[in-house]
Amino acid sequence: MEIFHISAECYPMAKVGGLADVVGALPKYQTNAGHQVRVVVPCYDTKFKKENDFECVHWGNVKLGNFDFPFSVLKEASNKLGYELYLIEIKELFDRPNVYGYEDDIERFLSFQIATLDWITARQTVPNVINCHDHHTGLIPFLLKYGYKYETLRSIRTVITIHNGLYQGWFGFDKLYYLPEFDLIHVGFLEWNNSINSLAVGVKCAHAVTTVSPSYLNEINIAANGLEDLFKSVRSKSKGILNGIDFEVWDPSKDQMIVENYSTATFEIGKQKNREKLCEQFELDPTKPLFSFIGRLFEEKGGDLLPQASALALSENFENINILILGSGNSVIEEQLVHLRTEYNGNYNVFIGYNEELAHLIYAGSDYILMPSRVEPCGLNQMYALRYGTVPIVRRTGGLRDTVIDFGDNGNGICHDQASVGDICYSINRAVKLYGDKINFNEIIKKGMTTDHSWERVCQEYIEIYNLIIEKNEI
Ligand code: GLC
Repeated sequence: MEIFHISAECYPMAKVGGLADVVGALPKYQTNAGHQVRVVVPCYDTKFKKENDFECVHWGNVKLGNFDFPFSVLKEASNKLGYELYLIEIKELFDRPNVYGYEDDIERFLSFQIATLDWITARQTVPNVINCHDHHTGLIPFLLKYGYKYETLRSIRTVITIHNGLYQGWFGFDKLYYLPEFDLIHVGFLEWNNSINSLAVGVKCAHAVTTVSPSYLNEINIAANGLEDLFKSVRSKSKGILNGIDFEVWDPSKDQMIVENYSTATFEIGKQKNREKLCEQFELDPTKPLFSFIGRLFEEKGGDLLPQASALALSENFENINILILGSGNSVIEEQLVHLRTEYNGNYNVFIGYNEELAHLIYAGSDYILMPSRVEPCGLNQMYALRYGTVPIVRRTGGLRDTVIDFGDNGNGICHDQASVGDICYSINRAVKLYGDKINFNEIIKKGMTTDHSWERVCQEYIEIYNLIIEKNEI
């Protein structure tokens, strides 16, 4: 079947978070499974865009109310990604270095969605399925159903995948005129709490809704930033599908970004070499266990708990552990983390920013990865960690609940229930003890390294949903 994934992010073209990893991997495995898969993202001014060749396959004008933006559709020329990548180039709106965070984000992503559908209308073939991702693409199911100019696309079945339900893309009805014409009788589909809510629109109008883990599907009935009742009402067309990870990119036995490759047979020496390199780079003590955090420094991820938890763990266990943090986000948290450097020099360090290569080395060289998230729709870091023999320490929430089981219950990691400094430190203490019990510790590592979170298995679950909604053929 012909499948389009439409998204704001796709690794390696543009990455802010896990969304990019998913949209950069799932299509590859769907292609391998015999489908024609195309990914469409906006054309930002990124390194990948600068360093790769593209060919123009279509151009036109996207209308946003009274505004008119010329756009082109660029296809990645070498086809090296394992799926076809298309960029919607709207220079005025997207020729900028960042993915999000501009005042005109609503105009940017509306134009992106409209231009994408205009292009699909102009193509010879009509895809079977469009899989939208998060609120930036939430209007598409509505426009396909009711937009007058998309009548020829009515047969397309739509899925919206929710990677993060906290962000919803609200805007006022004063911008309603941006949308291509439709019968106003359907305007109710756009509304939630007196605004146009892009995510709610997608959830109401898509033929199926997926979340990125089964537990997250349950949680959004209880907490979803105001959309709880909506999620409850669409339960019958919803499914939680646990994300996979790209086993080709994340493979400690082949990874070019780490200093020593290793397998389940050689992980002890392999991880030690990687740890030594990290410790040298960040002036840490290679004889002590290394606890790391990788990710965005926001409350959602428990980032605000890190400064205090690190300080407490280092003062209680000063002789015993190292802590290394890689991330960026809230500037107050960043400052607090940087500040700790002076106090715990030699056992603590932080790298503010994002660096894909360093992330790989940290997975390889760490003993534990900390994920104290308040909300975690799926979480990929714990799966990368497991694959690299790094034991995850997680708060039981969302996808973390579905992937990490406490070693006390014969599992692969360490779990706690509260998003609190106390719970994190309690888990760190248990981790230090476990680290001393080498036989047990190594068993847990091996269990993690051999868990199958590959997309190969998971991608079939998406295809099943697509088949289901194609068969049902509901409006
Ligand atoms: C978002 C979620 C994260 C999930 C990722 C990929 O970033 O916060 O939990 O793993 O999307 O689906």
